[in-house]
Amino acid sequence: MFLRLCINVDHVATLRQARKANEPDPVAAARLCEDAGADGITAHLREDRRHVQDADVEGMLKVLRKPFNLEMACTEEMLGIAERLKPHQVTLVPEKREEITTEGGLDVTREPELLSRAIARLKNAGIRTAVFIDPVPMIIERTAWLGADAIELHTGTYAHHPDDVRTINALRDGARQAVGLRLAVHAGHGLTVKNVGPVAAIPEIEELNIGHSIVSNAIFEGLANSIRAMRRAMDAAR
Ligand code: PXP
Repeated sequence: MFLRLCINVDHVATLRQARKANEPDPVAAARLCEDAGADGITAHLREDRRHVQDADVEGMLKVLRKPFNLEMACTEEMLGIAERLKPHQVTLVPEKREEITTEGGLDVTREPELLSRAIARLKNAGIRTAVFIDPVPMIIERTAWLGADAIELHTGTYAHHPDDVRTINALRDGARQAVGLRLAVHAGHGLTVKNVGPVAAIPEIEELNIGHSIVSNAIFEGLANSIRAMRRAMDAAR
């Protein structure tokens, strides 16, 4: 199965918001990502709007040619925005105002009815749905019950402890379990050119969402080269 590389452009917006200026423009960056071979664009519209703004999402949906994945918390405000803007895909993520970045997968054992109603609303609007979760068997099973099209496996623990085989084994087992439950499998968080190989080699995974390391390397290599290097690392492992 082809492995899609979707680029998260949040940190282009982080740099802009550091000065509350109008550059760098994440919409222009997203276009450049598409031209450099990205298979899709991802952005997280956080409740506190610390990086990506509503106008960025609207701008990307106007000009992008490839699928756009909106990461968001499962709140009434965000569901309304998604229903109005109709991105290709929504990935539901947990969100805490005090966190620096998303710290783990969504706890799908809390308020499962609320989550499944939200997923049904998004699907009714024609939006593909994914849920960002930890690679834990019980969580994967509960997510299948929610009715989502896909899971995004949280790769953060693996990224922090790549030499601990339990972290990559959990992703491998989780991907296999999810496909058995008819869920498509995505993965992301903390992936870099150095650590992406073992994750890209998991055959059930069809999409990676990568942001921070691509934007970081872009400072030294340029955005297009940074994306191409990631693509090469993924292809070498597949
Ligand atoms: N997937 C999800 C659900 C995320 O929240 C993030 C971080 O915003 C990513 C992927 C990308 O992580 P990173 O920026 O570490 O590549």
